[in-house]
Amino acid sequence: MDKLVSLCKRRGFIFQSSEIYGGTGSVWDYGPLGVELKKNLKDSWWRAMVRMRDDIEGIDAAILMHPRVWEASGHVAGFVDPLVDCKACKGRFRADKLEDARCPQKPSKHPGEHTTCQLTEARQFNLMFKTYMGPLEETASVVYLRPETAQGIFVNFLNVQQSTRQKVPFGIAQIGKAFRNEITPGNFTFRTREFEQMEMQFFVEPGTDEGHFEYWKAERMRWHHSLGLSPDRLRYKAHEQLAHYARAAFDIEFDFGGTLGFQEIEGIHNRTDFDLSRHQEYSGKKLEYFDQPANKRYVPFVIETSVGADRVTLAALVNAYREEEVPGESEGRVVLGLHPSLAPIKAAVFALTKKEGMPEMAHRIAGELRNHFPVDYDETGSIGKRYRRQDEVGTPFCITVDSESVTDGTVTVRDRDTLAQDRISADAIRGYLTERLPG
Ligand code: GAP
Repeated sequence: MDKLVSLCKRRGFIFQSSEIYGGTGSVWDYGPLGVELKKNLKDSWWRAMVRMRDDIEGIDAAILMHPRVWEASGHVAGFVDPLVDCKACKGRFRADKLEDARCPQKPSKHPGEHTTCQLTEARQFNLMFKTYMGPLEETASVVYLRPETAQGIFVNFLNVQQSTRQKVPFGIAQIGKAFRNEITPGNFTFRTREFEQMEMQFFVEPGTDEGHFEYWKAERMRWHHSLGLSPDRLRYKAHEQLAHYARAAFDIEFDFGGTLGFQEIEGIHNRTDFDLSRHQEYSGKKLEYFDQPANKRYVPFVIETSVGADRVTLAALVNAYREEEVPGESEGRVVLGLHPSLAPIKAAVFALTKKEGMPEMAHRIAGELRNHFPVDYDETGSIGKRYRRQDEVGTPFCITVDSESVTDGTVTVRDRDTLAQDRISADAIRGYLTERLPG
């Protein structure tokens, strides 16, 4: 993880937020390559969940919602973690996760294990960020930064159903920011206070929910495989304790290695009719579905798939990072073996030297390819160094223009993973890349 964090900063994937002021705790900024990587990942999810299906609609709900939403959802009363303070070291820890925490005093021990530790009684700490709407900081104007995107979907259930004339079963999907004032965030972008979720709520007739749950469990695992995450690093984990509203819940876990090991990246939950019923009760508005052919009304059950865009981006980076020997070379290389659909740069174009019309031809090729793919142009340093620079950011193909290119119009295309080089006509590059770059 340390090597990955350093690569992410050095190459412009991820920076600490407000770094010049010493950083903000567990908040991260995506740099030029990071924003492309995360966007590719979100696009892949949107394509799989919205564009390729006629039974799911997309929305983009506001972050700030009516405060009653969070009373109805149970977050005001129940979105809490037990918190203990240490009067000696001033540390704050989750009372139910002391075995995972480290006391800052030396030698390294769990909080409470040093004779000097003075842990307070646990108190319930609500994880929602609170702020005020309008100029008056008073109780009546309290609003929350949403801790999950799901509620924006529930409150729009009927708006979407009626405007699209969808019939149950159907789903609503969205991608958006969520905020949680986590007591113990950390492990780079794994647990942060501001993050992005990609959530889908699938509304089904009560009694059919178990079949839909199994379908989504399998479907979501398939998506993680499609991103190139290694199948032996992925597994399901059933929740040992179900939330009061849930009938079934599974996590998809990814093996981050090191001390993190297998950790949740996505949750698949059968939320029953809890959320719609609660919003019905708190808003006083009916949220029933009318099944015309059967002439019956009911509050649908919801199968939810909820995945963190930042967490899967981190999983993709961990999965892709490798250090390896290069045959015939003394120096090894660092490679991000990202799935081509996720790679921030799809192809890099090099002029072998800055002479004989090579830069002009390479610029022409890069300019033409840019209409179709994110492309980088590089003419500095040895060709070996340029390959290494692209390998460590995961660029699947490098195209080199040499003196032969200028006379016969051919170029070499080098594959990041196999290191194989093909000599092809410059006119054929676009077709060559299109065939090999999915999405
Ligand atoms: N609507 C259900 C829900 O929010 P969750 O298990 O609390 O469920 C779903 O969150 C996903 O959101 C997690 O699997 C994880 O990928 C991501 N997530 C949750 N808290 C996070 C945090 N503090 N930092 C980064 N990602 C987080």
